[in-house]
Amino acid sequence: MKAKKIVALFLLCCLCSKFVLSSPGRYDAIFNFGDSVSDTGNFLLSGALVPEIKKLPYGETFFHHATGRCSNGRLIIDFIAEAFGLPYLPPYLALAKGPHVRTGVNFAVVGATAIDSSFFYAQNLKLLTNDSLSVQLGWFKNLKSSLCTTKQECDEYFKRSLFLVGEIGGNDLVNPLVSGRTIKQIRPLVPQVVGAIARAIRILIEEGAVDLMVPGIFPISCSAMFLTLCHSPNRSAYDPRTGCLKAYNDFIKYHNNYLKEELQNLREEYPHARIIYADYYGASIPICRTPKHYGFYGGALKACCGGSGPYHYNASVTCGDPGSTVCKDPSAFVDWDGNHLTESAYHHVANGLIYGGFTSPPLLS
Ligand SMILES: *[C@@H]1O[C@H](CO)[C@@H](O)[C@H](O)[C@H]1NC(C)=O
Ligand SMILES: *[C@@H]1O[C@H](CO)[C@@H](O)[C@H](O)[C@H]1NC(C)=O
Ligand SMILES: *[C@@H]1O[C@H](CO)[C@@H](O)[C@H](O)[C@H]1NC(C)=O
Repeated sequence: MKAKKIVALFLLCCLCSKFVLSSPGRYDAIFNFGDSVSDTGNFLLSGALVPEIKKLPYGETFFHHATGRCSNGRLIIDFIAEAFGLPYLPPYLALAKGPHVRTGVNFAVVGATAIDSSFFYAQNLKLLTNDSLSVQLGWFKNLKSSLCTTKQECDEYFKRSLFLVGEIGGNDLVNPLVSGRTIKQIRPLVPQVVGAIARAIRILIEEGAVDLMVPGIFPISCSAMFLTLCHSPNRSAYDPRTGCLKAYNDFIKYHNNYLKEELQNLREEYPHARIIYADYYGASIPICRTPKHYGFYGGALKACCGGSGPYHYNASVTCGDPGSTVCKDPSAFVDWDGNHLTESAYHHVANGLIYGGFTSPPLLS
């Protein structure tokens, strides 16, 4: 009798926590636009030349094979899909060869920029991909006719879909910085990056999107790549609380604030839409400050996988290259390959977004 009661209570608890902790059925689909933070395979399928992410140790955790994700395992977008009881988003370029999926599609591509790639080529800056945000939106428009036909049908379907616009824009700012441009030179890019994101949001809302989530940029100067390539001999250039480069993170905050202001304008322009800001920066900073408190015993600044160097990052021997090494326990590290987070760090950030108040208005409400 007692045992039965305990079992029943246990089941009840499971049911409630499931109910509280996730929201299956809230959305029928997720559509995602972005870069390597959320690409689940498009870059690999595009035939691009970056062989490292094609093989282990990429994907060694959870998937146990390389999927095209820039991490050892799942990304924030995967944890969001899990929270809504939806399957992991298939990459758009895989769909071109197979059946279309009504539960969502991922258009993100490693290296993608918010501004069109031609803008960067005109300034002698090379990119990994030309599949910028506007190209990804073109893919969405191509796919639309196979998802729904009449305007009424599309409106109904998109009303029950979540549109993730980003993270995008990080490459627009980071590429020039690690190529030697100064913050002062790059600052005028911010309104253009935010303008490109706002344009994408307008297009999606005109197409019928109602719920949109728009992430800001991570504190990039905490990455092993950035700390290595933008190293400063001046100790006061570093934030003593995190070890990250202050000026660069302040610049990212400037961008994120600019984006937040633009989102407020868009909310006024489209009062029927629900435009959510996702604070990737805020959700990451606590683990940068006290990584061990969250179980990241390897610290927040050293990469798990990479070549030799003070931050286990080496631009000429990156993760997956011959001569690179992988840490034994990626779950103890925040930084995966110098430029992207580990699955456990992404999981932590995703929990902060979904359950921890780092989305505004809240994603779950
Ligand atoms: C992107 O476009 C530029 C300029 O048109 C071209 O030189 C480059 O090869 C393209 N890159 C890729 C990856 O397609
Ligand atoms: C070191 O950095 C600080 C803060 O960024 C700056 O105020 C100071 O002028 C720098 N000192 C040198 C010697 O460059
Ligand atoms: C990076 O790797 C190259 C090639 O193995 C090596 O010569 C160089 O010393 C490494 N840099 C650091 C900082 O360890």
